[in-house]
Amino acid sequence: MFEIVAAAPPDPILGLGDAFQKDPRPGKINLTIGVYRDDAGRTPILKTVKQAEARLLADEATKGYLGIDGLAEFNRLASELTMGSLVPTERIAAAQTPGGTGALKVAADFIYKSFPQARVWCSNPTWPNHFSVFEVSGLETKVYPYLAADKRSLDSGALIETLEKEARAGDVICLHACCHNPTGIDPTLEQWSDLAELTAQRGVLPLVDFAYHGFGDGLEEDRVGIKAIAGQHEEFLVCGSYSKNFGLYSERVGALLAICPNADTSSKVASSIKQSIRANYSNPPRHGGAIVATILGDSQLKNQWMAELAEMRERIQAVRKQFVDGMRAVGCNIDYSFLLDQRGMFSYSGLTPLQVDWLQKEKAIYMVGSGRINVAGITSQNLEILCKSINDALTGTR
Ligand code: LMR
Repeated sequence: MFEIVAAAPPDPILGLGDAFQKDPRPGKINLTIGVYRDDAGRTPILKTVKQAEARLLADEATKGYLGIDGLAEFNRLASELTMGSLVPTERIAAAQTPGGTGALKVAADFIYKSFPQARVWCSNPTWPNHFSVFEVSGLETKVYPYLAADKRSLDSGALIETLEKEARAGDVICLHACCHNPTGIDPTLEQWSDLAELTAQRGVLPLVDFAYHGFGDGLEEDRVGIKAIAGQHEEFLVCGSYSKNFGLYSERVGALLAICPNADTSSKVASSIKQSIRANYSNPPRHGGAIVATILGDSQLKNQWMAELAEMRERIQAVRKQFVDGMRAVGCNIDYSFLLDQRGMFSYSGLTPLQVDWLQKEKAIYMVGSGRINVAGITSQNLEILCKSINDALTGTR
């Protein structure tokens, strides 16, 4: 039977990580997958995480299964971190999930089960896995305009026009709460208000992907979109990830929050979500959720974690500035200062797929085919050679 199976193409992001690992060239540079790196190019375990793990090692009494929706304490604290006091907890159906991708998959199954006609609107461009996750659940996907032709700003006029003309009541819109992946361009406060108002008027359900909470301007500041939506919608979904802000990539910890109009609906929605989880992976892994709950539940650890998160965020902003200056220093005729307005790990470099390919083959510099770079992969060691190579790729000095 297996002989007829067609080989699948490598994943556009994770597949590059494999190619990078196999590349024997010294000095190779990895700007692909969205993981934070320090100036030494390492993805460190946060000190706060180590402390929480030490407590867990001493105190954890069982490895018995968690409930289908995970640790109650994690769900309470994740809801609080994401929603603050915007809605009362009895209106939130929360589930701990294996990473943000797990939250998206459970959300997609939940949507398809109750609203199979819903179409999911994704930004153009978006994280490529959004399409895979929604479509594998059976949902139809559509794209809404996002990046303007200059590739440096949000085309909110085209976005609004498309939704006004084409979105139907009962459709879903996937929005990135902050640090838009892959462009780094987020809506302004005003644009968030317009989006929240329009989607509410049209009866379109927001599904907010919140993978980079705290990587933009701060934990509170990054909730601007969530606040705008909560002001207009009494129902929406939030898919959170704790991979980046707690550095818990391989522990797979995320959360799905379904904000409901009342407690009664919330318990029905929670039961439907639990049914999807049981059929997918039964119940989530404990360790990552326990770490997050230990940190968020202890004010001293929480403060220390916020400081470590600020350090990561500030390094990324500093690197953006160094890159802009570095491109100027090598005589690049493109002014990259627009990168300073972007937030999070990613930026569009404006490089074409051919230029990206050339950089990989000739210079061992890896980035996603769309020209997306993970800014956190830039270090003081590789900055100069990176800027020079990008300038060579742009000017055709090859
Ligand atoms: C990325 O976009 O690089 C990250 O979200 C990691 C992933 O799973 O693709």
